[in-house]
Amino acid sequence: MQADLERILFDESTIHRRLDELATRISDDYRDRELTVIAILNGSVILAADLLRRIPLPLKLDCLSVASYHGGVKPKGDLVFRQVPLPDVTGRHVLILDDILDSGATLASIREKIETAGPLSVRICVLLKKKKVRARAIEPNYVGFEIADEFVVGYGLDYMERYRNLPCIGVLRKDLIAQTA
Ligand code: IMP
Ligand code: MG
Repeated sequence: MQADLERILFDESTIHRRLDELATRISDDYRDRELTVIAILNGSVILAADLLRRIPLPLKLDCLSVASYHGGVKPKGDLVFRQVPLPDVTGRHVLILDDILDSGATLASIREKIETAGPLSVRICVLLKKKKVRARAIEPNYVGFEIADEFVVGYGLDYMERYRNLPCIGVLRKDLIAQTA
């Protein structure tokens, strides 16, 4: 799988070191609060597993399954919520966990939906944030790494459902995208 990468951006130990830092900040911020983490499937599974085990607080974990890419590299815009009903977040502090902030459409829709359910607060944590102008302004509270506007895979991120199990994050070779997209 690594041969399909144009280059590696973050290796496993770099990712884990950054998760240590994020986990410390999140643990400090949510001490003595009723925290519910909502992990957005499937991209944030690996991140959730590694990050949450670094947070020594009592917390609830829920997952939400949405889709916007339909298998390609460009978002199609409309978001499909696959899991109904939404997790019960009334009276809870919610931390939404996602793999990457790209156009922002996914996180903006999810945030809106969760806010209607009466949480005490809603924050967002993403492992990656692409540097780009976004149609929907959205500022995550916790960001692992900022990256250029390139298509990346690994550590939960997929292309056509592949590469999620790569332990590192890298830029996918353009010829592989051109062949199948
Ligand atoms: P959005 O454009 O911010 O709504 O991104 C929605 C979803 O698209 C993310 O949660 C990822 O699952 C996926 N995505 C965005 N950029 C990439 C990428 O570079 N590689 C793999 N998946 C991506
Ligand atoms: Mg995806």
